[in-house]
Amino acid sequence: MQEKIQNIKNQAIAQITQASSSGELEDIRISYLGRSGKLAKLIKEIKRLKKEERKQVGILANDAKQTIEKQLKVQQNKLREMVREWFDPTVPGAKTPKGHLHLVTQAIEEIAGVFEKIGFVRVRYPEVEWDWFAFEALNMPKWHPARDTLETFFIDAKPHPKYGQILLTPHTSSGQIREMERVKGTKAGVDSVVRMINIAKCYRRQSDVSHVPMFHQFEGLVIDEGIAITHLKGTLDYFARNFFGPGRKTRLRPYHFQFTEPSFEVDITCDVCKGTARLPDGQGCKLCKEGWLELGGAGMVHPTVLKNGGIDNKKYTGFAFGWGVERTFMMKSGLEIDDIRLIYSSDLRFLKQF
Ligand code: PHE
Repeated sequence: MQEKIQNIKNQAIAQITQASSSGELEDIRISYLGRSGKLAKLIKEIKRLKKEERKQVGILANDAKQTIEKQLKVQQNKLREMVREWFDPTVPGAKTPKGHLHLVTQAIEEIAGVFEKIGFVRVRYPEVEWDWFAFEALNMPKWHPARDTLETFFIDAKPHPKYGQILLTPHTSSGQIREMERVKGTKAGVDSVVRMINIAKCYRRQSDVSHVPMFHQFEGLVIDEGIAITHLKGTLDYFARNFFGPGRKTRLRPYHFQFTEPSFEVDITCDVCKGTARLPDGQGCKLCKEGWLELGGAGMVHPTVLKNGGIDNKKYTGFAFGWGVERTFMMKSGLEIDDIRLIYSSDLRFLKQF
């Protein structure tokens, strides 16, 4: 009996050391240690032995079992080691996931690039601003609806004796006065002319499918001698062609802003119906109503605003325009999202598409 156990043990070890897969090892384990395995069968026979022999054989059988189990583990580890060490130099390396700029950042870069080509200088002015720059100096009367706490975020702090309350700027037009002051302060004085493109965050107390409380605007401002509406129109057409594509045209519609006179709303020809308001099948255009899409506001800088910026309004004239980045981007990409808040939701399924 003792010899039998010894033989089984040796046999098992020999098989285990030659096994080349975990499947094989498992088969070996079952054939020796399984319920009806070779060792188990022998152990069942122990109770038929004489009492004095039983103890001795029991110890041996137990030792055999433990040795086989240990050997199985050793071999298993050896096999794992072999797999790990096997190196295939032709397998492509694991790629680290790479992100990209947010779509609004991409749009900002592109818009700035288009204007920089015709000599506009990109500037940035405070988003936390004084009332003077955001409203008062822009000729906006105290009763103007935009100056209501329901429209604008006012900061609960002591007002400045000259500049008034602190607020989160609701438009990039607050950069107009600051830019006039900056240029005046330079060595060349105002004769160095203003050609600014101010792109910044703006804040308004609105949140629904087409508004987010924080959004972006880009504001153009040009001041020089003899600047007229034709310069504004030419600049807008240049932007339309270069940002939206050749063939796109703009039109100016009379409007009202406190800080420009005359004021306009700028429309661009719709890309879906090419400005015809009709689709090839004779149906009306799904995107626009009359062949035009609304871009945003523009106008000739109001003389009072020039004066507030310290500019001689007898000698100089200027034009300005200010549009939403998100809206302009959506019009370019033909993107029709039913909730603008998605842009700032950090949902990678959305963001990865741009
Ligand atoms: N600031 C205006 C707005 O936010 C847009 C505008 C800018 C209009 C410059 C005219 C000139 O609606």
